[in-house]
Amino acid sequence: MGIPQPAFYIFKCEQSAPPGMPKPSCVTASTQDLFQHLAQVIMKEGIMGTVQPIRTSCMNRCNAGPIMLVEPGRIMYANLTKEKIDRIVAEHIIGGNVVEEYVISSELWDAPITPAEMKKQMGR
Ligand code: FES
Repeated sequence: MGIPQPAFYIFKCEQSAPPGMPKPSCVTASTQDLFQHLAQVIMKEGIMGTVQPIRTSCMNRCNAGPIMLVEPGRIMYANLTKEKIDRIVAEHIIGGNVVEEYVISSELWDAPITPAEMKKQMGR
């Protein structure tokens, strides 16, 4: 039997926008330890490895930040706090139920456009 794949990847953006940038960043003084908190919760639950937290650059939804993306499923959570992360790990990652009340609005995170569809729209 081979090495099992992770069941989940959790992407958390970690880009701090320099002062004066037009958009707010997901990472501010009060939210900079959210990735560390996520990793600690995963370790405390004993699920590190089958759940892989990943630091990313900006995912272009800063105005709903702090955000994180759970794959598989393309579930994006918005306006995160440590308490919300605890609940997402318990209910979604371990329990298998998406925490709907923390999911980003579909106005900001609608169904994807396939690459083939996008090429068609661009006339290529
Ligand atoms: S820095 Fe998180 S979405 Fe932009």
